Amino acid sequence: MSVTIRPIEKKDKEVWLHLWAGPGGYLEFYKSKLPEAVSNNTFERFFDESEPVWCGVAVDDKTGKVIGFATYLSHRTTWAIEDYVYLNDLFVSADCRLHGVGRKLIEYVYAEADKLGACRVYWHTQFENHRAQMLYTKVGFKSGFLTYQRPNSK
Ligand SMILES: CC(C)(COP(=O)(O)OP(=O)(O)OC[C@H]1O[C@@H](n2cnc3c(N)ncnc32)[C@H](O)[C@@H]1OP(=O)(O)O)[C@@H](O)C(=O)NCCC(=O)NCCS
Repeated sequence: MSVTIRPIEKKDKEVWLHLWAGPGGYLEFYKSKLPEAVSNNTFERFFDESEPVWCGVAVDDKTGKVIGFATYLSHRTTWAIEDYVYLNDLFVSADCRLHGVGRKLIEYVYAEADKLGACRVYWHTQFENHRAQMLYTKVGFKSGFLTYQRPNSK
């Protein structure tokens, strides 16, 4: 499958919202719902130069359709002078999986992190997300850290 990964554009809002919050989309994968205001705010942040939040989209070269996305953000760390990049969300439309699109999206984030001068790219996944881990073991390594969260926090 031939795909191009490029930064998201304002014209992609409808399709991004569909992949993000529509039927069979990313939020549904996580059995989650978000207020529209949150999704709209996230989308707007991708274009705000003062926000260290970005999104790359995968476009099917044959159809021109946006079929996946990766969102990422940079942040300070006490462990380096350079920033870290956190890969926040990764999604490929169900009918386009296993064609290397997820890998391309991660490689895109790696390249963008290099441009930002970041010294680390990292992300979380759920223990039971074996499908994603099949990919992650090929493009990264398991850091060995567990994630904890404050009770009653979002
Ligand atoms: C995780 C996800 C992004 C992967 O996207 P994808 O386009 O299918 O991934 P790719 O095709 O690039 O990579 C899959 C890799 O894992 C391997 N793989 C994945 N599932 C596999 C399976 N069931 N059996 C064997 N290999 C498998 C493939 O061989 C491939 O490796 P390769 O690049 O060396 O050929 C996609 O499944 C998805 O959107 N899932 C739902 C949301 C999600 O889980 N997001 C990640 C949250 S942390």
